[in-house]
Amino acid sequence: MTITVRAPGRVNLIGDHTDYTGGLVFPMAIDRWTEVVGESSDRIQLSSRDEPGIVDLPVGDDAAGEDIPGWGRFVAAVAAEVQPMTGFRGTVSTTIPVGAGLSSSAALEVALAIAFGFRGSAIELAKLTQRAEHRAVGVPCGIMDQLCIAAAQRGHATLIDCGELTVDQVPIPDDVTVLIRFIAHRTLVDGAYAERVQQCNEAESIIGPLRAARLDDLEQITDATIRRRARHVITENARVRSFADALSAGEYDAAGALMTDSHHSLRDDFATSTPEMDAAVDELLANDTVYGARMTGGGFGGCVVALCAPEPDLDGWVVRPVDGASAEAATSG
Ligand code: GLA
Repeated sequence: MTITVRAPGRVNLIGDHTDYTGGLVFPMAIDRWTEVVGESSDRIQLSSRDEPGIVDLPVGDDAAGEDIPGWGRFVAAVAAEVQPMTGFRGTVSTTIPVGAGLSSSAALEVALAIAFGFRGSAIELAKLTQRAEHRAVGVPCGIMDQLCIAAAQRGHATLIDCGELTVDQVPIPDDVTVLIRFIAHRTLVDGAYAERVQQCNEAESIIGPLRAARLDDLEQITDATIRRRARHVITENARVRSFADALSAGEYDAAGALMTDSHHSLRDDFATSTPEMDAAVDELLANDTVYGARMTGGGFGGCVVALCAPEPDLDGWVVRPVDGASAEAATSG
C-alpha cells in the first residue's frame, strides 16, 4: 500500500516572536507543499528529489547519535519522537523554498510523523514535531509553524493562542490577496533566535508572563534591550487580536496598518529585520494596491508578506490559504 502525505508551508500574517512566550500568532498554510510518498518497510529508508543523500536508519534505535547529514537529521528526529513500530521506504519532495522562512522544516517534520504512523490530534502532532525540531537543530522554536501546518483549513488563517493551545479558524476574505516576496536566505539565524528567546525569559523573570503583561510593567525592566524585546511582544500580541478583528470586519486599511506597525516593532524593538527587508516593505507600501507589509517568520532574511487588493501587479508570489497536512493511502497495482 502506497501512502502519500502532503504538508503545506506557512506564512505568518502577524504575530512574530510571540509563540515561545505563549502569545498570539496568525499564520496561514500556503499552496506549496512537502510530500512524502512510500510504503512500510523493515527500515526507514528515504531519498529526496531536492537534496542529496539517502537516509537509512534501523527501526527502534534512537538514531540521534548516528552521523546523518543535512535533511536526514529531521528524519532521525521525527523517528525518535514517533518511535514507529515498522519502517518506511519512500521519497521526499517539496515545492516550499528551503531556507526562505516558509517552514519547510516544519512541513517535513509533520509529513514524516504522519508517514511514520503517528495518529493523534493536531495539537499532539504539533507538540511532537516541535520536539523533533528542537532535537534536530537545537533551536528552541515555538509551536506556531507545526500547529498551523497540522491544523489549517482551506480558505482560513489560523489564529493560535500559543499559551492555551487553542486554534480559531478565521476566513481570509476573497477580496484580499496575500503576497510573499523572497528577500534572502536566512543567515546567522539559530544563535540570534535563541538569544531572543533568552531575552524574553529574562523579561519574564522580572515582570512575569509576557502574555499577561501590560506596557506599564515595562518600567520595572532597567536593561534597555530587554525592555524593548518585551515591548515588542506585548504590543504584538495586541496587534494580532486587532488584526484578526479588522480582517473579519473588512477593514483592510486598518489591518494593513497593523502589519506595518508589526514590521516597525520587529525592526526597532526586536531587531530581527534586515536593511533589505526594510527596503522591500517600504517599496511595497508605496504601491496603492498594498494595505500593509511586514517581515514574516523568524527574520534575519527570509520573506516579507503583504496584504493587497486582488491581482496585485507586484513582484512576488501570490499564495492561497490551504488545508493542513493530510494523508492518502492507495493500493498499488
Ligand atoms: C520561527 C519559529 C517559530 C516562531 C517564528 C517567529 O519560524 O519556528 O516558532 O517563533 O520563528 O515568530
